[in-house]
Amino acid sequence: MSQDHESLENLLSEDRHFSPSPEFAAEANAQFDEYAHANMDRLAFWEEQAGTLQWERKWDTVLEWQAPYAKWFIGGKLNASVNALDRHVAEGRGDRVAFHFEGEPGDTQTITYAELLIQVKKAANALTEIGIVAGDRVAIYMPMIPEAAIAMLACARIGAPHSVVFGGFSADALLSRIQDADAKLVITADGGFRKGAAFALKPAVDEALKGAHNVEKVIVVQRTKQETAWTDRDIWWHELVGKQSTEHVAQNFDAEHPLFILYTSGTTAKPKGIFHTTGGYLTQVAYTHKMVFDIKPESDVYWCTADVGWITGHSYVVYGPLINGATQVMYEGTPDTPHKGRIFEIIEKYGVTILYTAPTLIRTWMKWGDEFPKAHNLQSLRLLGTVGEPINPEAWMWYREVIGGERCPIVDTWWQTETGAIMISPLPGITATKPGSAMRPIPGISAKVVDDNAVPVADGHGGYLILDQPWPSMLRGVWGEDERYKETYWSRFEGIYFAGDGAKLDDEGAIWLLGRVDDVMNVSGHRISTTEVESALVSHEAVAEAAVVGAADAMTGQGIVAFVILRSGIKHADGEELNTQLRNHVAKEIGAIAKPRQILIVNELPKTRSGKIMRRLLRDVAEDRVVGDATTLADPNVMKLIAAGLQSAKDED
Ligand code: WTA
Repeated sequence: MSQDHESLENLLSEDRHFSPSPEFAAEANAQFDEYAHANMDRLAFWEEQAGTLQWERKWDTVLEWQAPYAKWFIGGKLNASVNALDRHVAEGRGDRVAFHFEGEPGDTQTITYAELLIQVKKAANALTEIGIVAGDRVAIYMPMIPEAAIAMLACARIGAPHSVVFGGFSADALLSRIQDADAKLVITADGGFRKGAAFALKPAVDEALKGAHNVEKVIVVQRTKQETAWTDRDIWWHELVGKQSTEHVAQNFDAEHPLFILYTSGTTAKPKGIFHTTGGYLTQVAYTHKMVFDIKPESDVYWCTADVGWITGHSYVVYGPLINGATQVMYEGTPDTPHKGRIFEIIEKYGVTILYTAPTLIRTWMKWGDEFPKAHNLQSLRLLGTVGEPINPEAWMWYREVIGGERCPIVDTWWQTETGAIMISPLPGITATKPGSAMRPIPGISAKVVDDNAVPVADGHGGYLILDQPWPSMLRGVWGEDERYKETYWSRFEGIYFAGDGAKLDDEGAIWLLGRVDDVMNVSGHRISTTEVESALVSHEAVAEAAVVGAADAMTGQGIVAFVILRSGIKHADGEELNTQLRNHVAKEIGAIAKPRQILIVNELPKTRSGKIMRRLLRDVAEDRVVGDATTLADPNVMKLIAAGLQSAKDED
């Protein structure tokens, strides 16, 4: 058994169970027979779910599976934006609110389904006018404003795959994503509001486009009205979209037509363009949104706090909720602007019933203190969800007691950019949840915990999380990198999807996620690869070599700690200033989210004889632990040197 595996065997015990109230259970969308029903015939089950979408042409074959390539609902034709919008308007739900938008400065917009459809039709006409056709890739680099969703849906409407790049990423990161997807158009904004001030986005686009690319036009939403530099390729959104016709007949696309590309960090420096197609993706996001969040579109006000720059924003702000005709809240800013109760104020204001957020925010609220949630009426809430990282039982209990008033079921949902939709989660009317466990695979999904030889572990044991059956919303590949797709996900266990996460089964068979087992860090629920940060550091002139680890962090889950060897001639003494320079350099290369929490200047790095950096040992140092077994190091003294060097640096301070 490998060393990694042994540490996965490290079990915790949690005996608390929380069952839904009989009232909740009686009204729940998902009833007990949901699992049995799916188990009886998995493919028939997914066909049934696909049948809830509107198809122009029904599929001929439900699944074609030649590992690792899946095709779902072959021969079927549909349009994503028709399913999200036209259908509701046609069936008389046009007056229902789609978005209650709340800008950070306090400006608001109420957008009904009918209004959203008109905006999307106009935006689709605008894209067509500037020459975008089905198959062209469009990069979207936006703050969290309604136009972000409108832009995505307009792309989907004309069959142009979107590639949303999180607004917090740097110009360099944006350029590499534009290049990789070979985007023809960028949709952005002058800026947005964050932390009480306007920030700019357009200058980063201008900076990115100084590089090599095939971008012909840049459409700019005017959000802040700040002064914005202009070039010949730029067009204001309000001028271009404003003049378009409100009529647009959507074309239908093949179920396997690419819907979007979304870049995510892997174990190498270059992010992977995960791509998803249409029919299967929409089927699973709609099903999971309905069952896991128990959505009652006539009465619920649903709020997922994720940004559209992440997969959660794609699946559970844009596609899932809109297909289900939900009313949602969209908020532009940060949770502590202008005060630490902003989120709770918004919950009270709109009567939010379902809240879906990340453990890092829950832990931040805990730190800020109970007085902020307690100052608001949160009685409207009836269901709570979390995603993005393991949630510690203390945070789970706090969420349940302080935010949920002990009456709301909590759904801890495990999934990934690659899985497209929720895979492991309680069903809120059925499952007796345990604080910190994602519990079991949702109906129609097969997930297992296995050992090094792909053998499922017994209850009470730990191992690797795998998915051994194809699922409708699975990634269809890594954009332009087929080898990497096979190598990353399908090579560790032949023909089986390896998620990259460790997990354990407790004595009752419930799944507990234990974090990544690869070189991917999880900072505030954002995936960042150690190699990506290392290569950013090494691109700085002062740095000879760098090793980066994710160290446990009470607030952000993991914090980035970098061990850096300086080039000769550059001294420790340049200390503080160099540290700031390096941190800013990483922010420039990748984005502020990748800034190391701590940079430690060292003279050596621990390496195996084959030259592989032993991050495990560095993690021990970063987490202030006794350094573990170092016998496989090429030079066993290195760890002593590192410890001694750090000590003398501390003494110098
Ligand atoms: C982690 C986010 C524990 C996990 C939807 C996974 C979780 C990675 C959970 C995917 C959870 C996500 N419990 N860990 N409920 N949800 N993760 O692609 O390590 O941004 O592999 O997708 O986040 O991150 P991604």
